Amino acid sequence: MKDWVKEAIVYQIYPRSFLDTNGDGIGDLPGIIQKLDYLRDLGVNALWLSPVYASPNDDNGYDISDYYSVNPEFGTLSDLQKLIGEAKARGIRILMDLVINHTSVEHPWFQASRDPQSPYHEYYIWREGLDGGKRPPNNWTSFFGGGAWERDEQNGLYYLHLFSPKMADLNYNHAPVAEEIKRIMRYWLDMGIAGFRCDVINVISKRTLQDGRKRFALTGREHYLSAEGCHTLLKSFREDVLSEYDCFTVGETVMVTPKTANELCKELDMVFSFAHMETDQINNKWFKTRFKPHKFFNVLETWQSGVAWNANYFENHDQPRSVSRFGYDLPLYRYYSATSLATVLLALRGTPYIYAGQEIGMTNGYFTGMGDIRDTESFNINALAKKLRFPEKFRWKLIMRTSRDNARTPMQWNGGANGGFTEGEPWLGVNRNASYINAEADENAENSIIQYYRRLILLRKTLPSLIDGNFTRLPAPAGVFAFRREFEGEAVVAVCSLVKNERALFKPVSGEVLAGNYIKPAGNEICLRSVRPYEAILLRQK
Ligand code: GLC
Ligand code: CA
Repeated sequence: MKDWVKEAIVYQIYPRSFLDTNGDGIGDLPGIIQKLDYLRDLGVNALWLSPVYASPNDDNGYDISDYYSVNPEFGTLSDLQKLIGEAKARGIRILMDLVINHTSVEHPWFQASRDPQSPYHEYYIWREGLDGGKRPPNNWTSFFGGGAWERDEQNGLYYLHLFSPKMADLNYNHAPVAEEIKRIMRYWLDMGIAGFRCDVINVISKRTLQDGRKRFALTGREHYLSAEGCHTLLKSFREDVLSEYDCFTVGETVMVTPKTANELCKELDMVFSFAHMETDQINNKWFKTRFKPHKFFNVLETWQSGVAWNANYFENHDQPRSVSRFGYDLPLYRYYSATSLATVLLALRGTPYIYAGQEIGMTNGYFTGMGDIRDTESFNINALAKKLRFPEKFRWKLIMRTSRDNARTPMQWNGGANGGFTEGEPWLGVNRNASYINAEADENAENSIIQYYRRLILLRKTLPSLIDGNFTRLPAPAGVFAFRREFEGEAVVAVCSLVKNERALFKPVSGEVLAGNYIKPAGNEICLRSVRPYEAILLRQK
C-alpha cells in the first residue's frame, strides 16, 4: 500500500447536507469549497463525496442518470474541477463514489434497453415472468425490502433491481458494460480525483438467476455475494485502469467475513465491513436491541486481527449517528462518549473515515412523523411493514431509530436559522438541537469534540505506531476497550470506556498522556487505575 494511502484520514461528505450557498435548500459544491479551510484545519487529507452525478434523486444520487455530468443541483463540472484544485492546494485528495451495481431507470442506457431489439437490451437483467408473466422470474428479494423484480409496462418483461425499483441492476455478463465502467473510471481519474469508494461492490456479478434459499432478508444472496465473477471484474478494473493511476479504492462490501474481505482486498485497497454495525440488532437493521459494548469490541478485535488493513468507520450516510447509537447523546456525556468513540476510531489500525458532523458530535435527527422523512428506503420499509400489519406506532419506532435520514440532516454550522446550513428551506429538516450543537459552539466549548478530533488526527500524523503498529487487545473490564499499537519499540495504548459507570482496571496502566477526554495532556506520566464514565485516554509507553 502506498504511504499516502496508509496515512489517509478520510472525511465523508453527503453533499446535499453539507452547505447550501444559493438558498435552494440543497448543499452544493461551492459550499464544500467554502469549507475547505475548515477541513484542512481539522487535519483530514481526503474527502469522499457521496455521488454528485446527474440523478433524478430517487436515492439522492445513488441512482445515476449520467456518469459524466455533475448534478446541476450541486453545481457545474467546473465547480468540481475547482474543488479538486482547491483541495489539492490544501493537501486534500478527492474520492468519488462509484455506483456501478445499478443505474437510474432514467439513464439513457436503461431507456434504450426496454426495447428487446436494442443493443442496450443486454445492459440490464431482463427476463420473462413466470406463469405467463404473472410472477417474477425468481424469488430474490431486494435490500430495500420486497421483491427484486419490476415489470416494465412497455415490453412486459421484468428487470432485476437489488435496490429500489428506480435503480436497475447492470448486467456484467455482457462484456461492453465493464468497458463502459472503465471509461467512466478513467474519465474521473484523468480529471484528478484520487480514487473511488465503490458502492455495494461485492454484489455486482450475477451469473445465475436461480431461486435462492428462502430467508428473512435478501433471498438469493448466495448466488451473487462476493462471487467469482465479482473478483474477475475487480481484477480487470485494477489491471486495466486503476494500476495506471496514483489512486486507491475502498469497497463497500455487504455481508463479508474476514476471509472474504481478505480476498476482496487483493483487488481493492480496503473494504468497509458491517459486522461491528450489526452488534446492536437482531436479524436485520430495523430490529435494534440495546447496545452491548463488549460485542462491539469483540467484533472490532476479530477484524483487527483477521484483516491486514481495515477501513474503519462508525458512521456514514446509511447509519444512525454514532453518539446516539453507541454513546450517550444527552448533554451529560455527549462530549465524553463522542470523544471516546473518536479515540477508538483513530487509534485502530487501518484508515479512519469520519462522517460530516461526527467531529462535532451531531446526534440522530428529530422527526415527528413520516412527513419529516425523505429517504426512499424508509418509505419502502414503512410500506412493507404496513403490509405485514405492523401497527403504525411500532413502524414509526423502527423508522425513527434506524432511518438513514438520522445521519442526513443538514450539517450544523452555527446557532442561527437552519444551523447556518441554508438561507432557504432545507431539503430535510435541520435538527432542533442545532441551537447548541453546532461547529461554532463546539469550537468554543470548554469540552470541544472538534478540538479533540484535531488532536487525535495530529497524533496519527506524528506517531508511526498509530499507522504501522500492530494491534493487541489488552484485558479490560466490561464496557472498556483497551488495546496497544506497537511499532519499532514505541507503543501507544488506548483505554476507552463506552459505559456510564466508573470501572476499575484489572491492573494499572502507565505512560505519558498523549490525549484524554478528562485528563488533558501536558507531557505528564500517569498511572491509570480506573476509568470514569466514557473516559478515553491514549498513552505512550517506551
Ligand atoms: C449503498 C449506499 C446507499 C445506497 C445503496 C444503493 O449501500 O451507501 O446509500 O442506497 O448503496 O446504491
Ligand atoms: Ca444549493
